[in-house]
Amino acid sequence: MIHREKVKSLLETEEFNREVTVMGWVRTFRNNQFIAINDGSCMGNIQVVVDFNHTDEALLKRITTGAAIAVNGIIVESVGKGQRVDIKATSIEILGDSDPEKFPLQPKKHSLEFLREIAHLRFRTNTFNAIFKVRHALAFAIHQFYNERGFVYMHTPIITASDAEGAGEMFRVTTLDLENPPRTEDGKVDFSEDFFARSTNLTVSGQLEGELAAMAFGQIYTFGPTFRAENSNTTRHLAEFWMVEPEVAFADLEDNMQLAEDMLKYVIRYALDNCATEIDFLNNRLLEEEKSKPQNERSEMSLIEKLNFCLDNDFERLTYTEAIKILKSSKPNQKKQFKYLIDEWGADLQSEHERYLVEKHFKKPVILTDYPADIKSFYMRQNEPDEVGRKTVAAMDILFPGIGEMVGGSQREERMDKLVARMEELNIPQEELWWFLDTRRFGSAPHSGFGLGFERLVLFVSGMTNIRDVIAFPRFPKNAEF
Ligand code: 4AD
Ligand code: MG
Repeated sequence: MIHREKVKSLLETEEFNREVTVMGWVRTFRNNQFIAINDGSCMGNIQVVVDFNHTDEALLKRITTGAAIAVNGIIVESVGKGQRVDIKATSIEILGDSDPEKFPLQPKKHSLEFLREIAHLRFRTNTFNAIFKVRHALAFAIHQFYNERGFVYMHTPIITASDAEGAGEMFRVTTLDLENPPRTEDGKVDFSEDFFARSTNLTVSGQLEGELAAMAFGQIYTFGPTFRAENSNTTRHLAEFWMVEPEVAFADLEDNMQLAEDMLKYVIRYALDNCATEIDFLNNRLLEEEKSKPQNERSEMSLIEKLNFCLDNDFERLTYTEAIKILKSSKPNQKKQFKYLIDEWGADLQSEHERYLVEKHFKKPVILTDYPADIKSFYMRQNEPDEVGRKTVAAMDILFPGIGEMVGGSQREERMDKLVARMEELNIPQEELWWFLDTRRFGSAPHSGFGLGFERLVLFVSGMTNIRDVIAFPRFPKNAEF
């Protein structure tokens, strides 16, 4: 067995003048004397002091940035400035060399763009150490939140034959020979010969299966990878992202909104309480970054202020119809500054509109409800037509500053006749969703749920600006490296 102490606990130790072993990767080696070692247990490094007069020259040469080393030594209170503890090395072993000519991470600031190209190594920077600690804490907090409330964690399938969102943005899953696929008599690819004897794809959402479970357990959630083959090259979209989808029986849209707001506040509070060092680091990183921007583009609040502000205030709730009124008479709409001008009810909201509402108008998270039926999914509960006969559904989107849509959800259409009528209008074949429709056949009940884009949450809490920096190995159009 390997015995070592973690850098995190050594940096906090009160027991000095004892022998310790530390293992980690060299961040810097100064003056042939001071090694900064990081083992990932925290952002900080521990300083190892080397007696170079009594250390083999060849060994000293191998202590290079990126090398993995094991150090045995005595832990002492540091006499130098900048750190509380040092390890006086008694022996050093090189576990893995790192050629300094080739190792791409130098002890200097690298751009996020460059680090994205070496995503396999970027974990070894302080920024990515902090981001992924925050990501971990948020994931853990989500499970804790639902567990405390008695939800059952469901693992819904990743390979499915249905399109949950009806948007057709799916990655096909097949084992057919693409060079020479079997064909039906009319020349189409014959999926009855495929692995599952039908056409299948990667799931875009676990919701439909989640609904089945909710209609037995009462309250469930999923937390898994979802896939969208949409050609969106933005700082908010991934082709593979993680979604948290609670589904609750005997719950209406109000309950749904409350659950989402409670969950978001709970997990943000958890991250602030449990990742104080990391969030502090990210807060300062953002302040530094903002310094290079012109005054009017800088955010009014620091990251920590923004997170606390979100905890201390109720999310603003309003209907789509009310939002359209605000947008229509807004300055950027009047002055034709929006790329997509809002002139009539029914328009889908673009991210510029969402951001106007959240960042300029309300200046806090906003929950928009009751969207036009035509821009939302088939399964959403149909409202009574409004006074002028317009059709809306009991949908809700939660919009966040700097992010846009963080959560999308709805009360579900539990009435069989209404659901089937809507599916017919949209040409969604009932045979394929017979099992989904069974929930409406046997003991249907009001129920609601939503989907949280996990990376968008990490983006908000870490203060990063590109979604590709908050998932380990981002998948996006024309990129599946690593
Ligand atoms: O709004 P969406 O498409 O909703 C659903 O999939 C529902 N079935 C959820 C439900 O009611 N159970 O996606 C939900 C959330 C969005 O609000 C957004 O945060 C995130 O998933 N999302 C993405 N995140 C990253 N990259 C993408 N391409 C995303 N598409 C959606
Ligand atoms: Mg949505």
